[in-house]
Amino acid sequence: MDLDGLDPNRMPRHVACVMDGNGRWAVKQGLPRTEGHRAGEEALFDATCGALDLGIPYFTVYAFSTENWRRPHEEVRFLINVIADRLLTRRRDQLHAMGVRIRFIGRRDWRVPRWVVRRMDEAMELTRKNTAMTLTVAFNYGGRAEMVDAVKAIVGSGLPASKIDERTVRRNLYDPSLPDPDLVIRTSGEYRISNFLLWELAYSELVFTDVLWPDFRREHLAEAVAEYQARDRRYGNAGSHRGDEGIPG
Ligand code: FPP
Repeated sequence: MDLDGLDPNRMPRHVACVMDGNGRWAVKQGLPRTEGHRAGEEALFDATCGALDLGIPYFTVYAFSTENWRRPHEEVRFLINVIADRLLTRRRDQLHAMGVRIRFIGRRDWRVPRWVVRRMDEAMELTRKNTAMTLTVAFNYGGRAEMVDAVKAIVGSGLPASKIDERTVRRNLYDPSLPDPDLVIRTSGEYRISNFLLWELAYSELVFTDVLWPDFRREHLAEAVAEYQARDRRYGNAGSHRGDEGIPG
């Protein structure tokens, strides 16, 4: 990959993507929407390889939202099968060989078929010790659901209200070890967050591109990183300096 112009010392530690535009891509090609998701999976693999080449330690993608269940049954089934059959079998082994650790965030115990949960667990277990990069797949994920689930866990723990602060909430997110994203990319020319990582992206830089997700390649990732590196991150302060895990200093 052409790293010209990118500063290796200012690589984002965590990049997250809203992979949007699969359906429109397919319609433009005269194909069924599901073909857009199939092509989107290829794009995801290429982008993941790109993130690895760039030395980005955490790469997170929005694969299926808590709202996506409202789509036609056939499309939901197809999407779940792409994730379960492609990502969690063939890709799993390729990613494992590349040293990628696979993780999931989202509601595991709500609507997700048990066999899919089993494959998710197998992929996490197989790749648990890998250190080249962490690929986190947001599956059956909603930012508001994540906050509701965190509140439930905190209330369930019996912690008194006076003891609850931002760190308490962070500790009760789906994956407390995941750093806040430095950069969030959304494809397809839509300017929305769509319930993605609502707590975590408080201080993220947002980059929007018109590229439809199935056309997204590692070069587009590098372009987004270049745009990120040109930004001045202030975290609510006057000067340019890094916050502590996204919490303003
Ligand atoms: C949005 O496009 C995309 C999704 C709802 C799913 C993203 C899924 C993939 C990229 C498939 C592979 C994923 C994994 C993890 C293997 P859209 O259908 O909303 O497109 P539109 O806005 O053009 O209709």
